[in-house]
Amino acid sequence: MNHSSSSAKGLSTAGLSMHYGNRQVLDTVDLPALQAGSVTALIGPNAAGKSTLLRGIAGLHKTSGQVLLDGTDLARLPQVERARHIVYLPQSLPERTRLCAFEAVLSAAMAGHRSLGFTPERPSPAVLQGVEQVLADLDLTALADRPIDALSGGQRQLVGLAQALVRQPKVLLLDEPTSALDLYHQCQVVEAIIHATRERQLITLVVVHDINLALGFSQQVVVLHNGRLAAAGPALEVIDPRLLRDVYGVDASLEHVRGRPLVMVDGRLPFHSALG
Ligand SMILES: Nc1ncnc2c1ncn2[C@@H]1O[C@H](COP(=O)(O)OP(=O)(O)OP(=O)(O)O)[C@@H](O)[C@H]1O
Ligand SMILES: [Mg+2]
Repeated sequence: MNHSSSSAKGLSTAGLSMHYGNRQVLDTVDLPALQAGSVTALIGPNAAGKSTLLRGIAGLHKTSGQVLLDGTDLARLPQVERARHIVYLPQSLPERTRLCAFEAVLSAAMAGHRSLGFTPERPSPAVLQGVEQVLADLDLTALADRPIDALSGGQRQLVGLAQALVRQPKVLLLDEPTSALDLYHQCQVVEAIIHATRERQLITLVVVHDINLALGFSQQVVVLHNGRLAAAGPALEVIDPRLLRDVYGVDASLEHVRGRPLVMVDGRLPFHSALG
């Protein structure tokens, strides 16, 4: 039987399983098709398999089952081409290097060109402009000449996001992109993710731990629990007290504050809900 293509638009998985050694970490995950222009939050407890799922979609780890993008089984593409369509920003911060922020983002943009078999000696004005634009979008212009080594953890996280966006992928996989950010920068990065997703018609899948952040900014939510898909769908349909009890073991309620749904625990915001 040929499972290599289907007509569905968007990014989906079918029966995706992954192992570390002989330990199964993802168990036949069927991700419904995530659409261009939409942000999906990927939530679930620690060790549920969220980072592993992103790495599997990016082709950075051996999988069984399928990852489909607009009907194409990505296993059929060379990894270089897959990496052109799908950018994965890992949970750990960008490596410390001697490059300054501008050079780090430029090298990501140039790596995108090299993956097309195109190796210009110097960047074109359009590439330089793209780098400047993404730095400006993330409020990084003033830091452009600073060595990455001399940036704070949150600033390096922003540079990592700039490196991801400048490559102009179809799919953006972000692993806890706001975890090292203060309140101002969390809001700024969330705005930048929403804006880029809409403007560039990206399929964006973002791991977040803050349920209220997931409720506030994502069109839909995917929940992983013990390596299995526990739920997927519109945020307000998926996140309810029963799910929070089953998946997190927490007695929570969903309340409306100024018309906005918020998850409360013991009548209070969970302590890391920064955007309440
Ligand atoms: N390189 C590895 N080798 C072996 N086991 C691993 C490896 N990476 C992750 N695991 C295991 O796979 C499981 C899923 O890990 P994963 O990092 O995907 O979880 P996660 O949902 O991203 O968790 P967190 O919220 O803590 O980041 C965990 O039990 C973890 O210990
Ligand atoms: Mg993780």
